[in-house]
Amino acid sequence: MSLLTGNERAAYVQNMFTRIAHRYDLMNRLMTGGQDIRWRKQVIKLARMDVNASLLDLGTGTGDLAREAVLQFPQAKVTAADFTLEMMRVGQKTSPLNFSSADALRLPFKDSTFDAVISAFLMRNVIDLQKGIEEQFRVLKEGGRIVILDTTHPKKNILSPFIWIHMHFIIPALGGLLTGVSEAYRYLPETTEEFVNAEEMVACMALAGFKQIGFKRLMFGTIAINWGEK
Ligand SMILES: C[S@@+](CC[C@H](N)C(=O)[O-])C[C@H]1O[C@@H](n2cnc3c(N)ncnc32)[C@H](O)[C@@H]1O
Repeated sequence: MSLLTGNERAAYVQNMFTRIAHRYDLMNRLMTGGQDIRWRKQVIKLARMDVNASLLDLGTGTGDLAREAVLQFPQAKVTAADFTLEMMRVGQKTSPLNFSSADALRLPFKDSTFDAVISAFLMRNVIDLQKGIEEQFRVLKEGGRIVILDTTHPKKNILSPFIWIHMHFIIPALGGLLTGVSEAYRYLPETTEEFVNAEEMVACMALAGFKQIGFKRLMFGTIAINWGEK
């Protein structure tokens, strides 16, 4: 996978999510022991939305994060955007959302459109992380907030061997069994290990122009939430 060019890698990611879309939500619940629901609530809280805010959930997939935002802020204007149509198609069957087709590297939105841009498990997949953050900065209004939830490589600790076994054996085996695409769940540890840690993400966000940046680690340091303000 690391030998693929930018466009090939984007096509690979789209194809992979198309193939696992039908079982994506179930696999998420099982992999995280249902904890992802709690993390999504934290993302919405950190977005500090007003009741009628305009929000973009980028890399929305089947729309779980956007759905949580609508639940908490029924009057908000929530846009759920992704570049894999099949993920959004599966999500639309669960409950309709304002889905929109969009590439995180070329957002089809005007400058200063949203009060908040949030994402869950997106940024690890984006082939140019810095450009992805800059695009989110561009479409945010002054004072608007960015919140990024993603997996991250934990610092070595007493649980490291168990985390390694969970990521490299249990998740791919379970993913293979449930989706028939174990490759997609080998992609998860591979991209997590290649991805920036929470401190490096802070540096990327600062470079894009964000202020008031912070982060927290969850799930034994395997998950990070980063936030900032334009
Ligand atoms: C791991 S899923 C996360 C879905 C959802 N946010 C969640 O929390 O369950 C990653 C999603 O990001 C999307 N994605 C990856 N790269 C993208 C890009 N450049 N532009 C838009 N969406 C992208 C994929 O299509 C996929 O639906």
